[in-house]
Amino acid sequence: QDTPRAIIVIFGATGDLANRKLYPALYRLYRNKKLSDHFAVVGVARRPLTQEDFRNNVKASIEEYQGDSIDHDEFASHFHYNPFDAQHLSEYQKLDNFITELDQHHQAGGNRLFYMAMAPNFFGPIAANLKSQGLTDNKGWSRLVIEKPFGHNYETAQALNDQIGQAFDEDQIYRIDHYLGKQMIQNIEIVRFANAMFEPLWNNQYIANVQITSSEVLGVEERGRYYDESGALRDMIQNHLLQMVSLVAMEPPAKIHPDDIRYEKVKVLRSLRPLTDETVDDYFVRGQYDKGIVDDVELNGYRESNGVEEDSNTETFVAGKFMIDNFRWAGVPFYVRTGKRMKEKCTKIVVQFKDLPLNLYKDNEGTINPNLLVIHVAPEEGITMHLNAKKTDYGMTSKAITMHYDKSLENVEVPEAYELLINDCINGDSTSFVHADEVALSWKFVDTISKRWEKVKANFPNYASGMNGPDISDTLLNKDGFHWWETC
Ligand code: BG6
Repeated sequence: QDTPRAIIVIFGATGDLANRKLYPALYRLYRNKKLSDHFAVVGVARRPLTQEDFRNNVKASIEEYQGDSIDHDEFASHFHYNPFDAQHLSEYQKLDNFITELDQHHQAGGNRLFYMAMAPNFFGPIAANLKSQGLTDNKGWSRLVIEKPFGHNYETAQALNDQIGQAFDEDQIYRIDHYLGKQMIQNIEIVRFANAMFEPLWNNQYIANVQITSSEVLGVEERGRYYDESGALRDMIQNHLLQMVSLVAMEPPAKIHPDDIRYEKVKVLRSLRPLTDETVDDYFVRGQYDKGIVDDVELNGYRESNGVEEDSNTETFVAGKFMIDNFRWAGVPFYVRTGKRMKEKCTKIVVQFKDLPLNLYKDNEGTINPNLLVIHVAPEEGITMHLNAKKTDYGMTSKAITMHYDKSLENVEVPEAYELLINDCINGDSTSFVHADEVALSWKFVDTISKRWEKVKANFPNYASGMNGPDISDTLLNKDGFHWWETC
């Protein structure tokens, strides 16, 4: 396959995302020969920078986040800076000419990738201006990459979709959910659909419940202003957690093709049992971290963070139960939880299988240990099966054992999420990007919860920093006869 050619235009070129993620990802693609010499990056931002300053920034970001000091000058020679004020239409024409010149110079085939790595209120207006000022009338393909948040609720997400939809067709829009670029999340499909040991059991006859956790140790840090308006429900559940639920629950796709896979995910979201104002509290609980002592260090509470209201009602923790009312999953709870300032940084999926109808082989304590399949997403990447085997002695008692696949033992460099997603985008593969229908359905679901939570204030803070959320998170499972598997 030919290495793709393109001019990559990054709006927000001096920002945190560009420096922390995009430049190192582009560098790795370049080093791994996934980008040909026929590419250039146009950095677009307000700040007046010289070409040299910009290239130095790019090099510094690679050194800091990639820690690799070869090739940088040659790589940086593909980077060009274009100071830009998004409000002025005349600037778009200048940008258009600049891209056209670079295209000729780098022979980029007339392909343009516009990457919105900036404040979300600019996404819609910039997309519209790109169209109205003719930047999308190029001779090759043009694609738009946008970062979350895709709106703040269903209405604003629809308005954003309508706005960018006037400039780009759905198949030109690549909505990033960086979880979809994680190796082990992409692995869910393979584990499920390429193993005769799992697929026949992957349903309500054999699975008791599914538990998806994404916990963080860090607090809100310097993002208080954004986070206080968002909260864990919008920041994590609406996107990353619901994406994981869809991948675990979807039907096998007809083909490995973006339309087939996204169609199956949409079907899951359509099958979620809708909540009402009266049922929200039975299915979802929230928390906010207080101060706490972790490793002898006293950490402040959420309400003491910069940019956060001192009586903030914003949740930093959510646990919830999704019911998927379809033939495969009727009756099987999908529990999710996510939070900041928890015990450990860990993203994992635990599938708990049902107990056998009769099992005489208990362990020493007289317990029957259920089979678990754990998909470790991060920081550890791998799969663990929890099984029962005979305890080595004279009797017939059982013992819980594990079989483990540790990805790090493969000794290959794992492509980072952004690297993989940018590569997919320049190759026109939208499988691991979020379709407008997914965005709409997940907001619709989440909106019922946020409306309830805005109306009924919580008794916050309710968990100390360093804990796995508030007690009500345990109660949520206990009342169904389950508990969280802390197997990270
Ligand atoms: C982002 C959220 O989307 O995901 C952050 O905005 C969160 O608040 C982050 O910290 C978590 O990502 P990861 O890859 O570290 O699990």
